[in-house]
Amino acid sequence: MLKSINHIGIAVKDLDASIETFKKIFGFESVHKEVVEKQKVSVASFKVGDVLVELTAPTDDSSPIAKFLAKKGEGIHHIAFQSDDVNNELDRLRGQDIKLINEEAVPGAHDMLIAFLHPKSTNSVLMEVCQEK
Ligand code: CO
Repeated sequence: MLKSINHIGIAVKDLDASIETFKKIFGFESVHKEVVEKQKVSVASFKVGDVLVELTAPTDDSSPIAKFLAKKGEGIHHIAFQSDDVNNELDRLRGQDIKLINEEAVPGAHDMLIAFLHPKSTNSVLMEVCQEK
């Protein structure tokens, strides 16, 4: 079962410029930055209530975010829903004929395990399932 929204991923071209913009929007300075090598992205997260807003920029041209930016430009990239057990969730979703991008959980930002569902199965909304390790 998916319990709550953990984060909203926003694709950006220039991470530092976007951090400054979102500091102004949210009215606070606190931001967590990290590079997720496996996903080829650098991420800056703002905690807004219980939800993180994750600005995500590509670290190189082969990053999925680089491809997204080239195709669609900046904007909302994905919505991540929290689960207690991603791999269990993937099994359940496979049983419901939901297509998956990741057949198994992979490491994500914030030391979480994550997996993406295929937009073909989600009305074109890129959805992520995540869990704390
Ligand atoms: Co995410």
